[in-house]
Amino acid sequence: MSENKQETVNKMRELSIEGCEIIGEGAVGKVYRLDDETIIKVFAPGIPFEVVQEEKNIARNALVSGVPTAISFDVVKVGKSYGAVYEMLKAKTLSAFIKEHPERAAEMGRRMGHLLKELHKTAVDTNKFVNVCNLFKERVLRMEKYLSKEETDKLITVYECLGTCKTIVHGDFHPKNIMYTEENDELLFIDLADMGYGHPLIDLGGTCLVMDIFGRFTPERVPHYIGIDYKTSITVWENLIYEYFNGDNIEEAKILADIYGKAKFTLFPVIIPGMSEKDAMGFLMGSRSGGFLNKDYDITPALKCKLEF
Ligand SMILES: Nc1ncnc2c1ncn2[C@@H]1O[C@H](COP(=O)(O)OP(=O)(O)OP(=O)(O)O)[C@@H](O)[C@H]1O
Ligand SMILES: [Mg+2]
Repeated sequence: MSENKQETVNKMRELSIEGCEIIGEGAVGKVYRLDDETIIKVFAPGIPFEVVQEEKNIARNALVSGVPTAISFDVVKVGKSYGAVYEMLKAKTLSAFIKEHPERAAEMGRRMGHLLKELHKTAVDTNKFVNVCNLFKERVLRMEKYLSKEETDKLITVYECLGTCKTIVHGDFHPKNIMYTEENDELLFIDLADMGYGHPLIDLGGTCLVMDIFGRFTPERVPHYIGIDYKTSITVWENLIYEYFNGDNIEEAKILADIYGKAKFTLFPVIIPGMSEKDAMGFLMGSRSGGFLNKDYDITPALKCKLEF
C-alpha cells in the first residue's frame, strides 16, 4: 500500500457491527443495518481497502450522474475487514417484492426494461468509469491459458464488434440488485461495483445469464442467485426485454443477449475471485458442451447486429 493510502486507512473511523441486524448477504460480504438512516456493506476479510473504496466511489459517481441509487458515505474499518456506509433505502429488493406479489412479475419486468433503458440514456463521464468492453477483452486474454486460439478469437470477436460505445452499464442488473419502495412506487439501483461504460449488450447479456441461461441448466439454483424461482424469472426477463426494445425484433434481441450472456459465463474463471483451476476447467467443459465455446454455437448474429440501441 502506498504511503498516502496507508495514511487514509490510518485515519479511517472504526465501527462495530455487534448487535446490528443482517439485512443482506452476497458473494463478497454482508450488509448490516447500522441505524434508521444507514447501512454498512462489510466485505470479507482480505478484500483490500482499494476494492471497497472503488465500489463506494462508483456509487457516488453514479449518483452524481443522476443514477437513482443510495447516497454513499465513508469507508470504515470493521475489525479486520473494510466496510462502505450507505444511506438506508426504505425499500425491499424487487425480488422480495415479486416473491410476495407473483401476479405483478410481468409488470415489474416491464418496469425493469424501462429502468434499464433510462439508465442507458444517462450521460457518462468516461474519466469516472471504467471501459467495460475493454475489461471484457482483458478478461479473455487472462483466459488464454485455458483456451485454444480459435476459442480466444471467438470471444475477442464478439467483444470487438461492440465497438466504442459509451453507454453507462450497471454490470449486474437483476431483481436482487434493485430496490423497490412501495411508498413512492420507485425503483432504485444498488450494488454498482461493476458499473462502467460500454455497450448495452453487456448489461442485457449479464441479465440474460442470471435470469434465463443459468436456469436452463440448474433451475433450482435460480432463487439463490436472484431471489425468485426460474419460472417467475423468465416472466420478468421476457417482459424486460420486450419493453427494452418496444416490442420490436425481440427474437434477434434474445439471441444477442444469449450470446453475450454465454460469453460472460465462459469468462467466470477470471471473474469469480479465487476460482481453482479444476473449477475453471469444469466451467469450460460446460461452455464447450452447451455454451459459447461449442463449435456449433453461432455468433454471426453478433457480427451482423442491426438492432438500434
Ligand atoms: N442502501 C441499501 N439500503 C437498504 N438495503 C440495502 C442497501 N444496499 C444493500 N441492501 C441490502 O443488502 C443486500 C446485498 O447488497 P448488495 O447487492 O449491495 O451486496 P452483494 O450482493 O453482497 O454484493 P456483491 O454482488 O458485490 O457480492 C441487498 O440485496 C439488499 O437487501
Ligand atoms: Mg447484490
